[in-house]
Amino acid sequence: MSVTILGIESSCDDTSAAVIRDGLLLSNVIASQSVHEEYGGVVPELASRAHQQNIVPVVDAAIRRAGISKTDLSAIAFTRGPGLLGSLLVGTSFAKGLSLGLRIPIIDVNHLHGHVLSHFVRRSADDRVPEFPFICLLVSGGNSQIVLVKNYNDMEILGQTIDDAAGEAFDKCAKVMGLPYPGGPHIDRLAAIGNPDAFKFAKPRIPELDYSFSGLKTSFLYTLRDNLRKDPDFITKNQADLAASLQRTIIDILMEKLDLAVKKTGVRTIAIGGGVSANSGVRDAVAKYCESRGIEAFIPERAFTTDNAAMVAIAGYFKYLDKKFCSYSEAPYARVSL
Ligand code: KG4
Repeated sequence: MSVTILGIESSCDDTSAAVIRDGLLLSNVIASQSVHEEYGGVVPELASRAHQQNIVPVVDAAIRRAGISKTDLSAIAFTRGPGLLGSLLVGTSFAKGLSLGLRIPIIDVNHLHGHVLSHFVRRSADDRVPEFPFICLLVSGGNSQIVLVKNYNDMEILGQTIDDAAGEAFDKCAKVMGLPYPGGPHIDRLAAIGNPDAFKFAKPRIPELDYSFSGLKTSFLYTLRDNLRKDPDFITKNQADLAASLQRTIIDILMEKLDLAVKKTGVRTIAIGGGVSANSGVRDAVAKYCESRGIEAFIPERAFTTDNAAMVAIAGYFKYLDKKFCSYSEAPYARVSL
């Protein structure tokens, strides 16, 4: 019998619902919230309210676009954390209510797990998926981790950031340059026309496989401060070069540890995931690194790099196969590790 999973994602500022049947994607609907742009970051209270407005139409659209009826669903998977508690509560409560109405189980999904498993979302049975074990470089606004993925429900963190995430480094540096939030995509766009060797920023010296981005952020800030004293138009005149040099430094930091992880584990398959994996430079660097070493690379479609419910549905699908369900007394969690 077919297994049909509805996935619901509401951890931050995207309300998303997706349907996966027997591992194949039938629909993936995302409503993004533009309300935060004018505040320069996500406002939790506004995010929860927008989720409340979006969740019914988004779930309804996902079911309609999948060409199924809600009575065809086998289970409902929802993001339980990490994320903003008020936002998570909307998705969690909706999943519980719908599951009680339909008398089907609920499955809680760790958002980070979802990012890693997004590589198993297939549109057709011929789509390539990674073989176990593989290394996943998980880089988002809240996380920078190197994960050893041994199986769908068995992952080990080999290294992670001890302070800021890579996405935060992009966003905070973009903010001091006066770019809109989130700054990552703007840096990406500007970096394409800038000189990555124009400026040198500090790189951390952290042992083993952990990351650190706070020193880079400070070094970037001091470069702006010192140069703005000499020329008030320094940022405007050097926007593209600053973006390119910042992006190059972040990529160098990410790649150095990824290389170390490959050497330590001997694993020959690499995947990337999370919002920062949408970055053109990061995608390029990982693809070239893998190609030159005969390592298999999995670079996700851009639609699956940021928050989406397809990854929640696929993570839920594998938990369903393992009969890992969730009880109604479980609550969302704002912070949790992989
Ligand atoms: O995975 P995600 O949507 O949110 C979290 O779960 O944290 O990632 C958001 C992060 C933001 O920091 C955003 O600036 C960054 O991903 N991002 C990018 C790009 N697209 C999104 N960073 C660099 N280049 C991009 N093209």
